[in-house]
Amino acid sequence: MPELEKEHKLKHDHYELKGLLGRIEDGLGKLGTSKEKVTLDQLAQVDEFHFRGLAATKELIEQLQVGPEDYVLDAGSGLGGPARQLAAATGCRVTGVDLSTEYCKTGRELNKWVGLGDQVNLDHGDVTDLSKYDDNSFDGAWTIHVGMNVENKAKFYAEIFRVLKPGASFLIYDVVAKSAQQQLHFPMPWARNENTSFVVTVEALLEELKDVGFNLAETTDLTAQGAAFVDQFIARLQQADTPPPLGLNLVLGPVIKEIVPNMKRNFAEGRIGMITQTCIKPV
Ligand SMILES: C[S@@+](CC[C@H](N)C(=O)[O-])C[C@H]1O[C@@H](n2cnc3c(N)ncnc32)[C@H](O)[C@@H]1O
Repeated sequence: MPELEKEHKLKHDHYELKGLLGRIEDGLGKLGTSKEKVTLDQLAQVDEFHFRGLAATKELIEQLQVGPEDYVLDAGSGLGGPARQLAAATGCRVTGVDLSTEYCKTGRELNKWVGLGDQVNLDHGDVTDLSKYDDNSFDGAWTIHVGMNVENKAKFYAEIFRVLKPGASFLIYDVVAKSAQQQLHFPMPWARNENTSFVVTVEALLEELKDVGFNLAETTDLTAQGAAFVDQFIARLQQADTPPPLGLNLVLGPVIKEIVPNMKRNFAEGRIGMITQTCIKPV
């Protein structure tokens, strides 16, 4: 087994629940649609794997400010939902990188379903080793709910810095810890337990980014919006008789039942927050 696969197996089985594409197709059928007819926004029910889903992605698209001439890196692209939204909204080309073979494989099929196969490329790889991409080659980058899984943040951010063109922006949308000491309740959407979770405080995150050379714009705190989203998510689940035909339950599997109450507890007890951070590579 190649090193990357081995590393992934040990750390991220959480993100490798097999048969995902088939479950998504079944879900579309239950909603009265199909892979031939599905829209990008319908897919968002299952392929936006972060708090606040599509609404958050739409805000990030506004913030990143890229256009049809641009090449953008999505570090930790998951199923590629945010990458497809960005490509469709701006005309840019997106390269996603993700450690999950299942997500890359599924995401490439979803690209074809919505006619974005030429504009969005989903590569299997590790965000702490972007050596297959040249220095100064991307016009922008973002990462959405990935840093929480990455232990070696210095390497991660140094790689992003290296592949960005001078003057380009790197946008982060991540969960942060409210204090370095307090433990989180697990499982959470990104980790079954503390062995694969590396959530840091906003202060620690900003230090890492400054250390690799980024200039930092003001941090936006989205903790209240994250907590409100979780409350609405739970209310919707409670109102429904059956699990959503197309939702993150297809991605996460049965463990979602344990995850949902922990999302609420971690916000309610002030253990986690959420931020967006724009970082600029100096010219
Ligand atoms: C919570 S999901 C977010 C996915 C996507 N950004 C989104 O918002 O829909 C976290 C993703 O990070 C990926 N990931 C975790 N560690 C990684 C690493 N070192 N390199 C590449 N991808 C990684 C996981 O495989 C997973 O797809």
